[in-house]
Amino acid sequence: MLFRKMSKTDRKLSILGFGCMRLPQTADYAIEEHKATAMVRYAIDRGVNYIDTAYVYFNGQCEPFLGSALTDGYRERINLATKMPVWDVRSRKDMDRILDEQLKRLKTDHIDFYLLHGLSRSSWNDMIDLNVSEFLDGAINDGRICYAGFSFHDNVPAFKEIVDAYPWTFAQIQYNYMDEEYQAGTGGLSYAAEKGLGIVVMEPFRGGMLAQETAEIKKVWASGGHSRPAAEWGLRWLWNRPEITVVLSGMSTMQQVKDNLGFANDGKSLALTTDDLAVYERVKTFYRSRVKITCTQCRYCQPCMVGVKIPECFSAYNDAFIYTDTAGAKFSYDAFTASGGDASRCKDCGVCESLCPHQIPIRKHLRVVVSLFGH
Ligand SMILES: NC(=O)c1ccc[n+]([C@@H]2O[C@H](COP(=O)([O-])OP(=O)(O)OC[C@H]3O[C@@H](n4cnc5c(N)ncnc54)[C@H](OP(=O)(O)O)[C@@H]3O)[C@@H](O)[C@H]2O)c1
Repeated sequence: MLFRKMSKTDRKLSILGFGCMRLPQTADYAIEEHKATAMVRYAIDRGVNYIDTAYVYFNGQCEPFLGSALTDGYRERINLATKMPVWDVRSRKDMDRILDEQLKRLKTDHIDFYLLHGLSRSSWNDMIDLNVSEFLDGAINDGRICYAGFSFHDNVPAFKEIVDAYPWTFAQIQYNYMDEEYQAGTGGLSYAAEKGLGIVVMEPFRGGMLAQETAEIKKVWASGGHSRPAAEWGLRWLWNRPEITVVLSGMSTMQQVKDNLGFANDGKSLALTTDDLAVYERVKTFYRSRVKITCTQCRYCQPCMVGVKIPECFSAYNDAFIYTDTAGAKFSYDAFTASGGDASRCKDCGVCESLCPHQIPIRKHLRVVVSLFGH
């Protein structure tokens, strides 16, 4: 295992972190505790010292699971990261109540890396109104939290605003070779790193899509002369960047834990060659050749008068074809439309089409989005 020091801290963190959102589970979404405990402990025994969970994972069962899995001295060997469900916070008091509950669930007296979960500009503004800075400062002062950070799902301007609004230690962003321009992206990553924040990466395989080993994609990966698995390529691309401290991988089998531990032994920064980088470009071209709707996410069509999240709808639709994974794309579509914005809201006014610089027949495409995802 290789380690990197996170700036603003005294911690040397394993470059591979254990993301606990994809633990082995039963058909009714319960953690298979016996298997999951063995996987978490196996990883810790081989150097993983950063474990990431959240209040909400597995319908609230992940923190209590870790509370048990990390007994027998395992808790003391790791940096524990968990997240406050900002959408459940209605008052300043709720923040203390939730954190105290998390400490109990996790059977610990402190959280090493505490995050506000999934911030967007709007949820951050809600948190400011509820005086979250005072809460974070207080929890750091009384020792319940060691370091404060946030995970993020919005655009680059919102990311920069949040970075500048509090003396964060770290930010957790979705990042991988296909998503350099998505959410915080490379622009946000560089900005945060310049400001001294540590970077933790989530969804390195886009939830598993980039770890596929189909015959077609294997051929493209092999074109550079290396026979590396897709998962190794995905992780190496991230570890190549020195600004990234930890890459969280969700792992659902012991074999994945073993494989990723093996890759982490060689995850040096600035190690990819020009030839390697050319392979990534070929893989990106391969995936992009499957794009159905040529939306560039410029967002000129936004805001839609009835709130349809047009760029996001098209992105989810394209993902279904790029990664030949309709179920995964629908999962993400259902998640971001849970509070509105789905394609079925379109009233056919056509204003978006007059604004689109690429003359995309948006209304027609929104109808196909509805037919694929059902709403
Ligand atoms: N804060 C937030 O808002 C937020 C959001 C998302 C994630 N996260 C955190 O980030 C962590 C990582 O993200 P993620 O779990 O969503 O996605 P991910 O790491 O991109 O994908 C995880 C999936 O990749 C596949 N995989 C992993 N290692 C593999 C290997 N060696 N070979 C083949 N396939 C492999 C598995 O898919 P299969 O199960 O299909 O085999 C696994 O379930 C999460 O677990 C969570 O801790 C945080």
